[in-house]
Amino acid sequence: MKKVGVPVGKLDKTIPSSYEMTHDGLFYEGSWLSAPFEVLGRGRDPNGAGWSTCLKWKDPDGREHTHAVSDARLHGEVGALCGDLAQLGLRIATAPKDRARFVAYLNLQNTDKRVTLVNRTGWCSLPSGKVYVLPERTIGDTGGESVVFVGAQNPPHASAGTLEEWRNTVAKLATSQNRVVFCISVACAAMLAELVDAENGGVHLYGQSSTGKTTAADAAASLLGRGDERGGFVRTWRHTANGLEGAAVLHNDGPLVLDEIGIADSREIGSVVYTLCGGTGKGRAGRDGSLRTSNTWRSQIISTGEMRVIDKIVEGGRRPRAGQEVRIVDIPADAGEGFGIFDHAGDCNDPEKLADSIKAAARTSYGTAGPAFVEGLLKKGTDAVAKQVRAAIEAFRSANVDDAADGQVKRVANRFALAAAAGEIAIELGIVPWGAGAATTAAVAMYKAWLESRGGLEPVEIRNMIQQVRSLIERYGDSRFDPIEGAERPAHERYGWCRGKGDAREWLIPPETWRTVFTAGCDPTTVGRTLAERGMLIRDGQQLSRSEWVDGRTHRVYVLTAKILAGESPSKPTSEGSGAPAPKAPLTLEDLSKLL
Ligand SMILES: Nc1ncnc2c1ncn2[C@@H]1O[C@H](COP(=O)(O)OP(=O)(O)O)[C@@H](O)[C@H]1O
Ligand SMILES: [Mg+2]
Repeated sequence: MKKVGVPVGKLDKTIPSSYEMTHDGLFYEGSWLSAPFEVLGRGRDPNGAGWSTCLKWKDPDGREHTHAVSDARLHGEVGALCGDLAQLGLRIATAPKDRARFVAYLNLQNTDKRVTLVNRTGWCSLPSGKVYVLPERTIGDTGGESVVFVGAQNPPHASAGTLEEWRNTVAKLATSQNRVVFCISVACAAMLAELVDAENGGVHLYGQSSTGKTTAADAAASLLGRGDERGGFVRTWRHTANGLEGAAVLHNDGPLVLDEIGIADSREIGSVVYTLCGGTGKGRAGRDGSLRTSNTWRSQIISTGEMRVIDKIVEGGRRPRAGQEVRIVDIPADAGEGFGIFDHAGDCNDPEKLADSIKAAARTSYGTAGPAFVEGLLKKGTDAVAKQVRAAIEAFRSANVDDAADGQVKRVANRFALAAAAGEIAIELGIVPWGAGAATTAAVAMYKAWLESRGGLEPVEIRNMIQQVRSLIERYGDSRFDPIEGAERPAHERYGWCRGKGDAREWLIPPETWRTVFTAGCDPTTVGRTLAERGMLIRDGQQLSRSEWVDGRTHRVYVLTAKILAGESPSKPTSEGSGAPAPKAPLTLEDLSKLL
């Protein structure tokens, strides 16, 4: 092809004059090499690694593409590199000689212009301070440096309409609907978590279908992208663990909205929860066998589904570990007022219409509130925000969290507190039209709903242990225990003996049955000690078992008291008669024996 058009400008002095960039493309001694592109500068990540040449061009549809060609690739296969760029709409000559000249041109770039390349959205520390990177723009003072997002080709971030429109629709419809307010607050919390170094975690709204769970998730997603699963900021649980890792990086410093846990692979769910909340992906080996740095992310998960996260783990044949239960906390979706997820029927007096209006609004007006919130944080100053959030978390805890609460409860309470603090800042910044205190009210209500559905303040493992023994006594306390004085007919499959009535009732269990039945799957000593501390088991000095006279001779037995039957029931439903499925009781021995 013959050279046409006029040069775009003087090329870098280190580039031979045989090259010329014109409006028609790059030429070498009059031969066309490629469509025109701009060299934005030499790029590297914020740590000074990953040196590249950063290019920008428009594809045949006029869509702009920014791409960093790493120096490493200039030493690789020329055809593969050209193919990758062509795939993004940069036409390149196909003759090997021309391709080689094209690549040589990239290698000759020695401009002083610098570009910071970031491969994930969210907060990034530059010499000028903290900035927040979105795929299309960077919020904050970059000190004149260009920041280019090179993380993904189709990031989920997008915007439509104005902040005003979003505030008057999605946010306004959410007013005093605790669950929706809370989900939006969690989305805000995800954006500021980095500033207070908060740990990853999530909330999961569970309950019957068509109560508005996805609606609340859509509303939260609409802060940064389209409030929709199709091409939007909402993702589904259908991904494999690996896919979710990629998604988590894309949602870094933002909410990771995961709809419908029912479709997740139940065999993987436990490890997925751990990975997502751990914030670090699997390290992958580089081509030379070296360990490449693994993906990291910071995220707050907003999840929905008909079943609880722990039930999903159990469905996959796994035993839930306490860590999983407090990582993504289960909150009943039903507010218990007869309006599904909503506390009231809204101005239209129709919860179904309200849900549909929120959904529709989150699909037409989105992606403005998140950036505006971040702008507001930067205006306040990130240090000032961190201080305010820390103080608010402290205040939330002293007002709502029992000192006697277990460490797990306190840890989860911090996340509710973070959401409250973030929501209050959104109110203060005018991002949402709610009255001051609304986000705290919502977070407190959700904290209480979680606590109630969880069954109180004790650690999960302890509650599960007690519940395991309790449910056996509840079920078989009469039928499988003989009176110590001797039974007329011995019980079928006898577990032990019993004596006394009412509050004085005691069950005597031989060590073998204690080990294989009552404490199966747990450490028998730990269970014994736990029960003894609560007066549910009578010990003999240091010994957990005792010698008792039964049926004419002494037996070594564990003695349970009637206290084992007292106490809160972890399966207490949150909202009676509301139509929400009652949470299941923790695992019984029978469940366990099926699983193990
Ligand atoms: N609280 C509600 N009361 C009555 N109908 C509702 C409610 N929430 C949602 N719906 C109806 O169910 C549809 C699905 O809502 P969605 O939020 O996806 O429900 P879920 O995720 O709980 O299954 C809505 O389009 C609406 O018609
Ligand atoms: Mg749904």
